[in-house]
Amino acid sequence: MTTETLKPEAKAPGVSRTHHCNALRDADIGANATLVGWIHSTRDHGGVIFIDLRDREGLTQVVFRPEESPEAAKRSHTLRIEDVIQVSGRVAARLEGTINEKLGTGAVEIVANELHILSKADVLPFQLDKENLHEDVRLRHRYLDLRRPRMARNLRLRHHVTKAARDHLDAQGFTEVETPILSKSTPEGARDFLVPSRLNPGDFYALPQAPQQYKQLLMVGGIEKYFQIARCFRDEDLRADRQPEFTQIDIEASFVTQEDIFHLVEGMLEHIYKEVRGIELLRPFPRMTYAEAMNSYGSDKPDTRFGMQLVDLGDTFAKSEFKVFKGALEKGGVVKAINAKGFACITTGQIDKLTELAQLHGAKGLAFIKVEDGTWKSPIVKFFSEEEKAALTERLNIEEGDLILFGADGWHRVCNVLGRIRLEIAEIQELLKDNTEIEFLWVTEFPLLHFDEDEGRWMAMHHPFTRPVAEDIPLLEKGEYDQVKAEAYDIILNGNEIGGGSIRIHERELQETMFKALGISAEEQQAMFGHILEAFRFGAPPHGGLAMGFDRMVMLIAGEESIRDVIAFPKNNKGVDLMSESPAKVDPKQLRELYIKGTREEKGRGEAAQ
Ligand code: AMO
Ligand code: AMP
Repeated sequence: MTTETLKPEAKAPGVSRTHHCNALRDADIGANATLVGWIHSTRDHGGVIFIDLRDREGLTQVVFRPEESPEAAKRSHTLRIEDVIQVSGRVAARLEGTINEKLGTGAVEIVANELHILSKADVLPFQLDKENLHEDVRLRHRYLDLRRPRMARNLRLRHHVTKAARDHLDAQGFTEVETPILSKSTPEGARDFLVPSRLNPGDFYALPQAPQQYKQLLMVGGIEKYFQIARCFRDEDLRADRQPEFTQIDIEASFVTQEDIFHLVEGMLEHIYKEVRGIELLRPFPRMTYAEAMNSYGSDKPDTRFGMQLVDLGDTFAKSEFKVFKGALEKGGVVKAINAKGFACITTGQIDKLTELAQLHGAKGLAFIKVEDGTWKSPIVKFFSEEEKAALTERLNIEEGDLILFGADGWHRVCNVLGRIRLEIAEIQELLKDNTEIEFLWVTEFPLLHFDEDEGRWMAMHHPFTRPVAEDIPLLEKGEYDQVKAEAYDIILNGNEIGGGSIRIHERELQETMFKALGISAEEQQAMFGHILEAFRFGAPPHGGLAMGFDRMVMLIAGEESIRDVIAFPKNNKGVDLMSESPAKVDPKQLRELYIKGTREEKGRGEAAQ
C-alpha cells in the first residue's frame, strides 16, 4: 500500500452509510446514497469502471463515469478485488438490457461522485467464489472463508437457532445459568482436556465434557428449571460430526418425567423450525425402543427415511445345515438378513468392499444371494432346503433383482454389522439423494450398562448419573447388569444423534450402587464424586434433562455435511486450528511456572544427548 492511497482516507467523513448493499430499488432512483463494503468484482468498459460492491446483505453495482466525477473515476482504476471502500453517488436506473434479474438491486446502479478507499487488499490466497476448495485452505484463512455467502448464511442461521431456543426456554420459565469451564476430571466418558493450576502446584482442572454434574447440583440448589448454551470439551478422535469443543443446549428440570422432557424438547424444536425455516413439524415425534431400533435398523440412531429393515431368521434356519448359521444359533446368537431391493447388479468389487466393512465391525463374513435371471446366485444356497427357501422368500419378500445379505453371530454384532451395511447400500444406491424429509425419532429404554470388551468391565451406556427404571433396580443391586434398563433417551434426526438425556439418580445409596457396578471403589467415589454424593444427602429433588448437540442440529438445518461448516473457527480433524496454528509450543518459562517438565520435545533432546 502506498502513502498516496492512504492520504485521502484521512479526510474520509467517518465510515457511515445510508443503505446496505441489498437495499436500493426502483423507488430510490434519483436519490443520493452512500454505501460501504468490499469490491466483489470490477470491470473496465472502455475507461468506465463498473464494480459490484458487497456487504453482508448483498451486492450493488457502482459505476464511475469521468463526466460525473473525474477524481473518483480516476481513482476507481486503482480498485482491486476485496478492497474496502466507501462510495457516494446518485441512484440511477440501469440501461435497458443490462438489468440483472437475479439481484434484488439488479435494476439500479449508483453513479459515483465520491470514493474513499478505506483499506487495500492484497491478492487473496483463494477466489471467494471457487467451489470445492480444500478445507485446509479455507480454515487457514477462515476470515476470508466467512466472507462467502454460504458461510455467512450458516452463521446467521446458527444465531437464529440459538435465539429461538433461548426464547422458547425462557418462555417456559427456564433460567440460563453459566457453569464453570475450569472443572474437575472424572473417569467416565471421553478423555479430558487438562489445565494445570499454577496456584496449586501439581493439580489440574479439567475442561467440562458437559455440565452434567453442575446442572444436577443446580437442581439440588432449587433452580428447578435450568438451561445453558454450553461449551463442552472432549479429547476424542474427530470426525465430520465431532469437534474437540462443541456446543450443547443443555437442559435440566426438577420434578419431571420423561414425558415432560419429550414435550419440552419437541416444543422447542417446533418453535425453532417454525422460526428459522417456516416449517411446521408433526408432533408428537415417533418413538422406538432401543431393542426395536437395533433389531430392525441395526443402530441406536436409526435412519427411518428408508426401509431395508433387518429381518430375524432364527425360526427359518432353526434346523439349518449351513454350519455358519447353525453354529451361530447353537451359541445363542442370531441369523438376520436385509433385502437390498434391485441391487442384484452389485459388482464383485462392491461385494468385496461390503465384506471388508462387515469384517471391520467384527463379522466373520457376509453371506449373500443375488436373485438374477430367476435363479439364486450364491455360494451358500446349496445348503438351504426347499422349505427354508420358501420361508426366506416370504419373510424377505424376495423378488427378481434383489440382493440378500446375511449376518450370523452374536445379537449385537449382527445388528451392528447389518445396520452399517444397510447405510452403506443406501449411500451406493443414492436412496436419500433427493430426500427432503425431516424425521425426528425418540429412541427409548436404553440399557443402563454395557460390557466393554476392551476395558473388560461394565460401562455406563449414557453416564453414571442415569436412573435405572424402577422395576430393574433390584436387578442392579443383584449384579444382573445386562438386564437393567435405564430411563434414558436419545433424540435422532434423519439418522443422526442430535441429543440425549435421562431421568437421574437423586438418591445417595442408588448412586453408590451405580458407581459400584462401574467398578468405582468407595474411596474413588469419595475422591471423585464426593460433592455430588454429599449433595444428595440434603434433600435432592427428583430431576432429569437432556442435552442437544447444537452444532449437529444446526448442521442438519443448514443442509451441511460437517459441523465445521456451522462453527466460526473450528479445528481440523487433527484438532488443529490452522489459522492461529494452535495448539503450539509454549515458552519453557510458562511451563516452569506451572511445575510442568519434560515436554515431548525436551524428552527427545535429552535422549539424543545420552
Ligand atoms: P451426550 O454425551 O450424549 O450427553 O451429548 C449430547 C449431544 O452432544 C452432541 N455431541 C457432540 N457434538 C459435537 N462434537 C462432539 N465431540 C460431541 N459429543 C457429543 C451429540 C450428543 O447427542 N450430559 C449429557 C446429557 C444429559 O444426560 O443431559 C451429555 O453430554 O449430539
Ligand atoms: P465359509 O464357509 O466360512 O467360507 O462361509 C461361506 C459364506 O458365508 C461366505 O460367503 C462367508 O462370507 C459367509 N459367512 C461366514 N461367516 C459368516 C457370518 N458369521 N455371518 C454371515 N456370513 C458369514
